[in-house]
Amino acid sequence: MADESINKGRRRFLTASTAVIGAGGLALTALPFVKTWLPSARAEAAGAPVKVDVSKLERGQRLRVGWQKKPVDIVNRSADQLKWLKAQDPRLRDPDSREPQQPKYCQNTYRAIRKEWLVFIDICTHLGCVPDFYGEVKPEPFDPQWKGGYYCPCHHSRYDLSARVYQGVPAPLNMVVMPYHWVDDTHILIGVDPPAGSPQLKGPLEGPLKGATA
Ligand code: FES
Repeated sequence: MADESINKGRRRFLTASTAVIGAGGLALTALPFVKTWLPSARAEAAGAPVKVDVSKLERGQRLRVGWQKKPVDIVNRSADQLKWLKAQDPRLRDPDSREPQQPKYCQNTYRAIRKEWLVFIDICTHLGCVPDFYGEVKPEPFDPQWKGGYYCPCHHSRYDLSARVYQGVPAPLNMVVMPYHWVDDTHILIGVDPPAGSPQLKGPLEGPLKGATA
């Protein structure tokens, strides 16, 4: 049964590249696609960095892209979504991200370089399904205290909006934040750490980057 579920999750990713999906996830998949720069299939397969334009992503929305054949989600978290993150700590397995599931510069409550922007690999740390985005802060059937995050339908693991895993679920670890950095205020380069000396290495930053990132 597990294998069947996992394959289902992977299939979902293969059919869902670069869709922008608003809070509420599956119900809003009809939102328009956002055009992003995409590498050639060959370059991506070789693990090339992926540059993504996030200028059209509104607060509360997420964008999915592919990198190294993995689903990478980019979420522009709203003020309402952000304000509940710290309060989740007592319910989480690794609230301080002590396990090496992210670069040092993302070892903070937001698991991010910029406070609003979550960028991570949306693969469940249990058996590799692709969890669904439930971005709205509202009770859900699987969690009456839900404050937005990701839910894995395979075996019911839950993650908050920093991709941190809740206690009492099969997934053992927070989802992975891969290396990335901001090239400018609207472009992210996935797969490459910030350059040496960049303020981005001291995340989380607040507000616009003011152009200079390198
Ligand atoms: S793969 Fe089992 S809970 Fe996600």
